[in-house]
Amino acid sequence: MSSQASPFEDFAGKWRPRIEAELEGILPLAECAPRSLHGAMRYAMFPGGKRLRPVLALMAAQVTGGDLSAALRPAAGLELLHTYSLIHDDLPCMDDDELRRGRATCHIAFDEATALLAGDALLTLAFEAVASGGGQAVSALARAAGSLGMVGGQVADLEAEGDGQDPDLARLESIHDRKTGALITASLEIGAIAGGSSDERGDLVEFGRLLGRAFQITDDCLDETGSAEELGKRPGADLAKDKLTYPALMGLESSREEAERLSRAAADLAPLICRGLEGSGLDLGLRLLQDVASYAITRTR
Ligand code: IPE
Ligand code: IPE
Ligand code: MG
Ligand code: MG
Ligand code: MG
Repeated sequence: MSSQASPFEDFAGKWRPRIEAELEGILPLAECAPRSLHGAMRYAMFPGGKRLRPVLALMAAQVTGGDLSAALRPAAGLELLHTYSLIHDDLPCMDDDELRRGRATCHIAFDEATALLAGDALLTLAFEAVASGGGQAVSALARAAGSLGMVGGQVADLEAEGDGQDPDLARLESIHDRKTGALITASLEIGAIAGGSSDERGDLVEFGRLLGRAFQITDDCLDETGSAEELGKRPGADLAKDKLTYPALMGLESSREEAERLSRAAADLAPLICRGLEGSGLDLGLRLLQDVASYAITRTR
């Protein structure tokens, strides 16, 4: 049912079935050899989580006046890459988690080697899917996902775990911008590129940076306040591992205030991002961007 209350939820609700169908079509069947590998890839992908990154890619196509259908396959590619990052993030050598998206993590349901390789295969498949958006889209993904982006952020996150150093805001911001912000920003960039926009998109990149940081601060807060039922993952894991997080650094209240400040700054960019639109397209674009900025910090899962 459509509601005027959340343009973002309406948009996401409308596009999620097409994202699911696209993912279904891209992934090899579970019966296809090697069956253990394809079974594990599908186990991690379905039923899935919020599908935020593909929705952001489609939103970026929408707010830059692009072709959403052309952005659909690259959008699905972003979810493949994100899901690989979650499988590896949960491994015993990383965050060592046993619950993800409401059920046993991939390495528990299968085994470590299969989970590692399922992640590798999803990462590789992601590039094939994003390649349908062209070379620029592939470059944007490679930059965001690699050693200067998400993987580098994951290394820094692990290195900061209980290392005895004084908590340091600049260090934490750098971790969050890379481990989470980079792929969120790339989702927006890739959606705009695949949808046909050839403009310089500094405004969209800045929106992604602010949104990504607000999103990860909220993830840190939910680790302290959420329930396993709602989150689909085990709360309290960051504290148990002595992770460098916003609540650990400045407490829950200041963390929430910082997330709100970032969310408002992101929403303020909406008119700039939508500058090429007019009429009802402009109205929808503004509401979508403002609403996703608010969703990033009000979400409960
Ligand atoms: C979890 O991402 C990892 C972070 C970057 C915080 P999501 O919160 O988007 O997880 P899913 O995809 O909905 O499961
Ligand atoms: C994970 O951050 C970021 C990536 C997977 C790249 P977290 O370790 O905080 O994510 P969760 O809380 O396990 O989902
Ligand atoms: Mg982690
Ligand atoms: Mg984790
Ligand atoms: Mg977390």
